[in-house]
Amino acid sequence: SNDQVEQLVEAASLAPSGGNTQPWKWLAHSNALFLFHDEKESASWIDFKHSASYVALGAAIENLKIKAESLHLSANYTLFPNGEESKLTAVFSFSELQTRTERYTNLEKGMTMRLTNRKKGDRRPLSDEVSASLKSAVELDENAVLYLTQNEEDVQLIADVVSASERVRFLHPQGHHDFYSREIRWTKDKDGPVSEGLDIKTLELSESDKTGLIVASSPEVIKLLNKWGGGSAFEKLSKKSIASSSAIGLIVLPTYSSYNFIKGGEALQRVWLDANVNRLSFQPLTAPLFMIERMKQSNGEGMTTLMVDELYVLEQKLQKVFPALKDNQGIFMFRLSYADEASIRSMRKPLNEILQFSEV
Ligand SMILES: Cc1cc2nc3c(=O)[nH]c(=O)nc-3n(C[C@H](O)[C@H](O)[C@H](O)COP(=O)(O)O)c2cc1C
Repeated sequence: SNDQVEQLVEAASLAPSGGNTQPWKWLAHSNALFLFHDEKESASWIDFKHSASYVALGAAIENLKIKAESLHLSANYTLFPNGEESKLTAVFSFSELQTRTERYTNLEKGMTMRLTNRKKGDRRPLSDEVSASLKSAVELDENAVLYLTQNEEDVQLIADVVSASERVRFLHPQGHHDFYSREIRWTKDKDGPVSEGLDIKTLELSESDKTGLIVASSPEVIKLLNKWGGGSAFEKLSKKSIASSSAIGLIVLPTYSSYNFIKGGEALQRVWLDANVNRLSFQPLTAPLFMIERMKQSNGEGMTTLMVDELYVLEQKLQKVFPALKDNQGIFMFRLSYADEASIRSMRKPLNEILQFSEV
C-alpha cells in the first residue's frame, strides 16, 4: 500500500550519505519500488565514479530491508537491472515475509538513533562481545569482512593518515570548492535546521577551529598555502579526535566494482546500527580511501606530483595497519568511541522531494 511505501522510503532516507547529500530518488509503481541515483546531488571530486554515493545508496537499501521485515514484508531486489552505467540502482518487489532475519530485529532498534558523532572519546576498550557483534553485523554478507584494531599505535597512525588526507583534499581546488560551496552550511541559530548538507554544528569544532575554517574558505588563502607547502593547521582539525577513539574499523570486499560499493554500504549500515545500539559513537573516516582510489583509477589526473607522491605514502601506511588492503578493495573506514552525545542531529529532505508514485 502507499502507506507501507512511505514507511519504507522514510526508513531508507534515514541512511547516512557523504556530506549529507542524500543522492536518492524513489519511484513507486504497483508492487515495485525503483531506486534511482540522483547524480546531480552527488557529483563531487571526492566521489570518484560515484563510489561514495553507492555506499550511501547501499546503506539506504539496508534500512529499507530492515524496515520491510518489521512490516512483515520480504524485500526482493535486483541491483543495476539496466547495467552499472544506469542511474537505476535497484528494483524492489515485495512478498509476504516467511522467516525473519534474526539479526534485523535488533538492528531496527538502532535505525532512528543512528547518527554521526564527531566528539572526542575516552579510549575505553571494546569488549570482546561488542567486537564480535560488530564483525558479525558486517559479515552477514559472506563476501564482506570487518577488520577492527584497538592498538594504540594503529589508531595514532590512522589519525595521521586521515588528517593528512583531509589536508590534501582541502588544498585541492576542486575539493576545497566542494567543501565550502556544497557541503558545509553556515547556519545561525535563528535560521533553523537545514535539510541537506553538513550543518557546521555537527562538526563539533572549537571556536578557534571554526575561525580557522572560515579563514581557509578563501581560495586566495589556499593558493598561498599551496605555494608555501602549508596547510598543517587543517590536520589539527581531526587528528586529536581520531586519536581519542577506542577502535578503527575497516570494511573490505574482494574487488573494485559499483556492485561491491553498494554491498559495502549495506554492510556499513548494519555495523553502524549495531555500534549505536551498543552505545558506541561512530564517525566515518573516508577521505584516504576515496582519494587513493581516485588517484589509482585515474592515474593521478588533475593532481600535482606532490599530491600523488603523498597519497602513495599514505596508502603504504594504511596497508601497514590493514594488510588486507593489499589484495582486497577497501570500502569504508570509520572510528568508534565512547563519547558524549552529539550536539545536534542532521536533517533529511522531506519525503515528497524524494518519493513519487506513478499511476500509469
Ligand atoms: C560515503 C560516506 C562518506 C562519509 N565521509 C565522512 C567523513 O569522511 N567524515 C565525516 O565526519 N563524516 C563522513 N560521513 C558522514 C556524513 O557526513 C553523515 O552521514 C551525514 O552528514 C548525515 O548525518 P548522520 O550520519 O548523522 O545522519 C560520510 C558518510 C558516508 C555515507
